[in-house]
Amino acid sequence: MSIDSNDGAPRRLHPLGVRLMHWTNAIAMFVMITSGWGIYDDYVIIPGLHFAQAVRLGSWAVPSLLWHFAGMWLLAVNGLAYLLYGIITGRLRERLLPIRSSEVLQTVRDTLHFRIEHDDLTVYNAVQKILYIVVIVAGISQVVTGLFIWKPVQFSGGVALLGGFQAVRWEHFLGMTVIVGFVVVHVVLSILVPRTLWAMLSGGPRLAPPAVRPPEART
Ligand code: HEM
Repeated sequence: MSIDSNDGAPRRLHPLGVRLMHWTNAIAMFVMITSGWGIYDDYVIIPGLHFAQAVRLGSWAVPSLLWHFAGMWLLAVNGLAYLLYGIITGRLRERLLPIRSSEVLQTVRDTLHFRIEHDDLTVYNAVQKILYIVVIVAGISQVVTGLFIWKPVQFSGGVALLGGFQAVRWEHFLGMTVIVGFVVVHVVLSILVPRTLWAMLSGGPRLAPPAVRPPEART
């Protein structure tokens, strides 16, 4: 099945399910990041690095931990639904692959010349594709390392594989840093190119029906 082969009315660029999962993920990430900063501050990883109370969810570590556990279910269930949907419908493959090195170079050149507006919203540029893949992998890694930190005895094999308990804490922290970096760039770009933001709210343009190919071309 492909993203635009629904055999009926042309589908939107971002079907309702994708939009709901995207915005649910944004809320879940907000809860996870800000409550994570609340837990971190009780047991710092980088000496001297603290997060101000104003950006923490929860007045101290225990309420922050409760928020983190609540947000975890939303993040994991919603993320799993997004992945399954993306794999089963072929959306992930069609939107995020292939990535050609020539396209990467062209996108970097365009960005350096501040040409970030893309005329065709239905095609992600190569850098967008890489960033989305990186953040999806980082999200999966956060759920796995979070599980290992929560249940280090039950997942002792996994903890050992990733270098021990402190190493897993570091990996969880680095994953958060990657996601925060992504979100900053992602939100700034969606404000600079508001058509993309409107598309993620309204569904965006309808996709052209797939071209009918002769049977001998369908191998
Ligand atoms: C308020 C915060 C956010 C805003 C304003 C926002 C905005 C957008 C927009 C406008 C698009 C469509 C881009 C395009 O068509 O060119 C998009 C797609 C996407 N966003 Fe966000 N986003 C936010 C939060 C997040 C977060 C927290 C994540 C993950 C950590 C995320 C991950 C993604 C991914 C993976 C896609 C591609 C979805 C797909 O096509 O299947 N976004 N976002």
